[in-house]
Amino acid sequence: MRLYERYILPHLIDFACGMGEVMKARATVVPQARGKVLEIGIGSGLNLEFYAPAHVSLIVGVDPCTEMQRLGHERATRIAIPVEMIALELNQIQAADASFDSIVCTFTLCTIPDALAALKDMRRVLKPGGRLLFCEHGLAPDASIVRWQHRLTPYWKPLAGGCHLNRDIPALIESGGFTLGALSRRYLKGPKPMTYVYSGWAD
Ligand SMILES: C[S@@+](CC[C@H](N)C(=O)[O-])C[C@H]1O[C@@H](n2cnc3c(N)ncnc32)[C@H](O)[C@@H]1O
Repeated sequence: MRLYERYILPHLIDFACGMGEVMKARATVVPQARGKVLEIGIGSGLNLEFYAPAHVSLIVGVDPCTEMQRLGHERATRIAIPVEMIALELNQIQAADASFDSIVCTFTLCTIPDALAALKDMRRVLKPGGRLLFCEHGLAPDASIVRWQHRLTPYWKPLAGGCHLNRDIPALIESGGFTLGALSRRYLKGPKPMTYVYSGWAD
């Protein structure tokens, strides 16, 4: 692994994903999680403080990046819910069908190389009646911004751990076999190609 990806990038991602507006966006979806929760791309554990201990019995966090998870372990010790961190992708953990009550996915569908396959796997492991709770940045509604998102993505991806700026999040979620139940969308503060955020739930 290159030095940048190992030592610098995890801290940059933790810093950027921990900024005030981004934390407020997480706070609108994560507290809705219930029961046994699967968090996809748990990273440095920035969502952990938003889970409701009265409603969540276990958080299983998967993320192939051990450097990100290293930062997350410390946050996991600070909450009153058991957290299992697994340094793998979802399709590698061989989770049983319909084994989770909620799935949480924040700022991760931009980065998973095959996001559609991952969503199909999330659909498989989510119990009937369970919800996928998401908060993701992606394709903006304005043509001029979309042009920049397409132009910048090839340069941005290697700098930002594989992040795509131009993924159509609602379309991806629906293609993964989910039905959108609630969807809000807006620009957060910051450069527009990076800050158009979709949040809500799907089942
Ligand atoms: C921008 S970070 C976001 C981290 C965290 N979800 C958050 O909201 O702060 C993207 C995360 O996706 C993870 N990731 C990349 N590919 C993945 C995959 N195939 N399955 C699960 N997580 C993945 C990365 O390691 C990284 O931790």
